[in-house]
Amino acid sequence: MITLAHISDLHFGTESPEVVEGLLEDLVSVEPTLVAVSGDLTQRARRKEFMAARLFLDRIPFPRLVVPGNHDIPLFDLLTRFARPLARFRRYIDEDVDPFFSTDAVAVLGMNTARSNTWKDGRISLAQIDGLRRRLGPLPPHVSKVLVTHHPFLPPPGDPSPPLVGRASEALQAAEACGVDLVLAGHLHRGYTGDIRTHHVDIRRGILVAQAGTAVSRRVRNEANGYNVLQLSPLRLAFSLRSWDGRGFHEARFVEYVKSGSEWRSGGSG
Ligand SMILES: [Fe+2]
Ligand SMILES: [Fe+2]
Repeated sequence: MITLAHISDLHFGTESPEVVEGLLEDLVSVEPTLVAVSGDLTQRARRKEFMAARLFLDRIPFPRLVVPGNHDIPLFDLLTRFARPLARFRRYIDEDVDPFFSTDAVAVLGMNTARSNTWKDGRISLAQIDGLRRRLGPLPPHVSKVLVTHHPFLPPPGDPSPPLVGRASEALQAAEACGVDLVLAGHLHRGYTGDIRTHHVDIRRGILVAQAGTAVSRRVRNEANGYNVLQLSPLRLAFSLRSWDGRGFHEARFVEYVKSGSEWRSGGSG
């Protein structure tokens, strides 16, 4: 059994210090194999925001995999935005913006979807889709395969038409062929889970999605700060949303899926 912690949209610069401390404490109690961070580490891609994000990451005593979000590219500094959009991310967070983590049981591939020209919306390149095939395609079926992006593949409940990541269909076709089980993303500041086929009807194999809300930012959108804990094995995937209640993080929602053939069936929720 692999445990992944999925945090997103930290937006350092607008963080709540007590929630930051609460999150670090909670992560230690969860003991994840990996902490996946799905972008928007900063509010305005400022140096001091990246330095605060770096200090936070350094305090997590587990392996981390981090992708950038649109807020990690400067919006108003046009020279930097177009000439060196992810220079600060690369300097303070990680040189690799398409990071990869693997063990005998799990393989996690991050893909940078933040772009200078469509600052808010994201996109996946053809080269990244090739990379997905190359990295995940050769792995045996017992390895759980996970993608991490900032921009979402699946709309939230009750909002069928938010902008999804560009080239979602092509990326999902490659993900389906490679046996990807789970996609982690953020950007919408809402935590939810679902099956990709509820929106992408051309995909036949069940691929589950976990979207995370904002972990520590005060810029919440009608939803408390929260993050996801995923427990993964080849035939079972449990999704737990852990929400901030003013004093600590506690499980607010739980959904379990069981694999049957190429389907993930909901085995219960709470
Ligand atoms: Fe965000
Ligand atoms: Fe975002």
